[in-house]
Amino acid sequence: MIAPAALVLLGSLTVVFASPRDAGDLHRRDDSDGYFNPSDNGGSMLTQVDGTYPEGLGEPLNMIISANSDDDVLVDQKSNGGFRAYFTSIGFGSECLGQVDVLVQRANLGDGNDYANQTSLLRWDYGDANFGTCKESVNGGNHFRYWVQNGTDQNSGAYFIAASYEKSAKDSHDIVTNGYNIARDEIVGNITGSAIDSSSVSDSSTYSGSTSYNGYTWETSVEYKSGLLTATSDGINHYQSVPEDGQPAIDGLVAVLTVRITQRGTDSDEDSNGAHPSHASPVAAGAALLVFGAFALCL
Ligand SMILES: *[C@@H]1O[C@H](CO)[C@@H](O)[C@H](O)[C@H]1NC(C)=O
Ligand SMILES: *[C@@H]1O[C@H](CO)[C@@H](O)[C@H](O)[C@H]1NC(C)=O
Ligand SMILES: *[C@@H]1O[C@H](CO)[C@@H](O)[C@H](O)[C@H]1NC(C)=O
Repeated sequence: MIAPAALVLLGSLTVVFASPRDAGDLHRRDDSDGYFNPSDNGGSMLTQVDGTYPEGLGEPLNMIISANSDDDVLVDQKSNGGFRAYFTSIGFGSECLGQVDVLVQRANLGDGNDYANQTSLLRWDYGDANFGTCKESVNGGNHFRYWVQNGTDQNSGAYFIAASYEKSAKDSHDIVTNGYNIARDEIVGNITGSAIDSSSVSDSSTYSGSTSYNGYTWETSVEYKSGLLTATSDGINHYQSVPEDGQPAIDGLVAVLTVRITQRGTDSDEDSNGAHPSHASPVAAGAALLVFGAFALCL
């Protein structure tokens, strides 16, 4: 026989756990924007980069995937419509053939995790979801590092992204002129399907677009926000070479993305790598390795 007190407890537990979305909201404070401003709790919208001259320069966190997105999008996986599947639909993939990023950056999202290493790095795949990121890593192109705001202090679950357009390996992967703004806006262009002129975006710019991969479709709405970063060259990595026509290295805008899954594929959590087209045959992998080797020799 269950005591009445236990029944009441059981009842309230049922209420608390009835909806995972509501349960998640319990530890969110005022994050109606879908993220917390890192600066509100000792964090920063600039990353830390090792070996800069002078020391202490950083790169801007110029995009956010807001926690108002569908929960499944906020999971760092390629199945079930997760973050990596979403970015595959936009044309971004993980490191070429298991290469590791040797230039790991750190960010403090004000979530109590202090400065923490990037979760990972994704590269533009030049239209080839299997081996395109090899080309990016040699020839340069768009890429981004990301962090999840999921420490116990400001636990929004939002993703913070530092996007930049880099030069080739030959040019030591420096950032191209205006390369932070351009990288952000080309990702937004990849989402909307039409190029965005970086000099035309402002505080109130909004865009939307729909992308698909592996049976999933994601609807993204984008809002550019000022106030998180400043329009400046101060403290920005490559501050000498990035500015264009006397403009500051970064325009101070952050593109905030809210992403919803409007159509679901048939894969599930069990198949954590996702299905087609991420599985490459060993022969294809060998061939790509040769091509990559040849690229590398050309440098
Ligand atoms: C925060 O997110 C990262 C990336 O998905 C994950 O590796 C880590 O386990 C998460 N931490 C918590 C406390 O959930
Ligand atoms: C952070 O990355 C650096 C460089 O790869 C590595 O040496 C260090 O162990 C990492 N720290 C943690 C806590 O994983
Ligand atoms: C998509 O991204 C790539 C790489 O950044 C860029 O070259 C291309 O112009 C982008 N497409 C649009 C429509 O912006």
